[in-house]
Amino acid sequence: MADSKKTATLKIGEQVLELPILSPTAGPDVIDIRKLYAQAGVFTYDPGFTSTAACDSTITFIDGEEGELLHRGYPIDQLAEKSHFLEVCYLLLYGELPTGAELEDFENRVTNHTMIHEQMQFLFRGFRRDAHPMAIMVGVVGAMSAFYHDSTDINDPWQREVASIRMIAKMPTIAAMAFKYTIGQPFVYPRNDLDYASNFLRMCFSVPCEEYEVNPILARAMDRIFTLHADHEQNASTSTVRLASSSGANPFACIAAGIACLWGPAHGGANQACLEMLEDIGSVDRIPEFIARAKDKNDSYRLMGFGHRVYKNFDPRAKVMKQSADEVLELLGIDNNPKLQVAKELERQALEDPYFADKKLFPNVDFYSGIILEAMGFPTSMFTPIFALARTVGWISQWKEQLDDPQLRIGRPRQLYQGATMRDYVDVENR
Ligand code: CMC
Repeated sequence: MADSKKTATLKIGEQVLELPILSPTAGPDVIDIRKLYAQAGVFTYDPGFTSTAACDSTITFIDGEEGELLHRGYPIDQLAEKSHFLEVCYLLLYGELPTGAELEDFENRVTNHTMIHEQMQFLFRGFRRDAHPMAIMVGVVGAMSAFYHDSTDINDPWQREVASIRMIAKMPTIAAMAFKYTIGQPFVYPRNDLDYASNFLRMCFSVPCEEYEVNPILARAMDRIFTLHADHEQNASTSTVRLASSSGANPFACIAAGIACLWGPAHGGANQACLEMLEDIGSVDRIPEFIARAKDKNDSYRLMGFGHRVYKNFDPRAKVMKQSADEVLELLGIDNNPKLQVAKELERQALEDPYFADKKLFPNVDFYSGIILEAMGFPTSMFTPIFALARTVGWISQWKEQLDDPQLRIGRPRQLYQGATMRDYVDVENR
């Protein structure tokens, strides 16, 4: 941790405290308040962690004002254009781009773990057919700890590594099985001669009665969606994984916790919510009505796919995703899709509206990803599982980083208690 030797002075009544200021390699300085309670008997108050750095990290950096996202220093647009998902996985996990030999070895290791324990398919069969695939993902990933006992010991570096590779390798298989189960089609086993994205598309869309040819442009678009979602610093689901892991929970349980958090519509569930919003709007002439609702202080309605806690400029992932959406839709010959028309016009009207401009609300990654995924043939319920599949590597990288941190302590926020003070119990007949 870099120490800038600067301090911040805090005066509480007569007490004056000098708080160290820590300087990061990029981003704002951080006031170190770790000893605040011990020295002054006060807590800080920051619901939603809007001003709180909860950890040191070397993995991902976001400059929200500039609309910049770096993984281990490399800009996301360069990675999306020149790299591919498994190489980005390596970068996130191990800190550097791999050599050719390292990449080959990593891809072989991932490929060797794509199948899931055969017994796990009975777990799938225990769900209702109309279960949301995210419900299945939360359950099945959590249950991996019951199937892979030999990689749950977090104190053993080898087991940590095996658990990491297993999750990256098996997540496409699990997500595809969740999809197949909910549409009543047979499970499709992974094929290790295919690349990561092609294998996932095949497990989702092939059926035993006919050959399935993976379209390389769609595979590339799929891979790019994975790359763009791979990690995103200390967002809600990553912080959930870190908090779960701080208690010493096993890796599968921690990632299941991350999946559960991602499901919410303010986070990973926004891609599904966004497409449903485009459906609700239905036609271009109804856009002003929905924009008016989003602006109305007395209506909790929000435009899904707009706004971000950190980005106060265009989401850099959204730029690449938009370009990808154009390519995929052109390839598939879909340019008169009503949802796409609504999306384009909604984007135009919102960007010109002072409400969105003043609050710096720009389209985020979820605004465009749903359009591509729908064009590929995925139902809206699969959008968030695909996000979870891709984010798994980010969660695991952050989980590994935290376990290696000598400062690791159980995460335990404080509170500003506003409830009743101590009072005596009253018997029921006297209440
Ligand atoms: N539509 C209309 N108004 C909005 C929107 C929106 N999508 N987002 C924020 N605002 C307004 C909000 O009402 C508030 O106004 P005021 O200052 O007058 O009270 C102001 O903008 C700031 O909003 P906030 O809720 O304080 O911002 P936040 O940082 O807590 O929330 C957010 C960020 C992403 C949860 C929010 O923008 C949102 O709900 N967006 C829609 C859901 C969405 O697209 N989520 C995906 C995020 S990207 C994928 C991921 O990383 O998970």
